[in-house]
Amino acid sequence: MTTPAAVKTLVVSAASRHGGTCEIADRIAETLGRVLPDEWHVVRGDLRDLRVFDGADAVVLGSAIYYGHWMHSAAHALEYLREDMPQDLWLFSTGPISEIESENAQVISADAMADIGEADEHMVFGGKLDTSHLTFLERLVVKGVHALPGDHRDWAAVDAWANHIAAELRTGTVRSHAGTKDPSDQGIRP
Ligand SMILES: Cc1cc2nc3c(=O)[nH]c(=O)nc-3n(C[C@H](O)[C@H](O)[C@H](O)COP(=O)(O)O)c2cc1C
Repeated sequence: MTTPAAVKTLVVSAASRHGGTCEIADRIAETLGRVLPDEWHVVRGDLRDLRVFDGADAVVLGSAIYYGHWMHSAAHALEYLREDMPQDLWLFSTGPISEIESENAQVISADAMADIGEADEHMVFGGKLDTSHLTFLERLVVKGVHALPGDHRDWAAVDAWANHIAAELRTGTVRSHAGTKDPSDQGIRP
């Protein structure tokens, strides 16, 4: 009689207003589902039902940054996770869209998320800004921070990070400490 392989669950989820961040979560889930061994069950979770996180061994949680903060649904999910932390937790944010680096540094207060000491990593990816979908107020805001319209998502960096997560899960690397990373750090940008 053969013993069934233990199944571990990894949930990938993200908060998004205009869809750009969801597409990054889709890509991460797709990559992890493809490269992780069969013992891993990858779920692309919806933040409308946080019970998707119940019993998860590992979680990848992301959010678009609006006005310097994670979206409410992602922040709420993080609070939910804190009540029963998974073994591993990776965070990512999307947002930097300014042509002036100091403006990006100013608005990305999601850095604070990396200081909680409960996550493996916090990664920041470039975002997507389609001004045709914005309200008048939103247009004023993005103009004020010298935002560059367009798609600034770096899919190679997203894929590299997903593969990095898979490598850590495969080797069972113990969570060391939280820290914010830019894709250019750690040599994972191709
Ligand atoms: C009104 C508005 C405010 C924004 N505020 C920030 C911000 O504070 N920091 C940042 O890095 N990006 C900011 N962004 C950029 C978004 O985070 C970026 O466009 C992101 O990719 C949007 O993701 P989504 O398509 O998933 O909603 C802002 C965009 C808009 C439209």
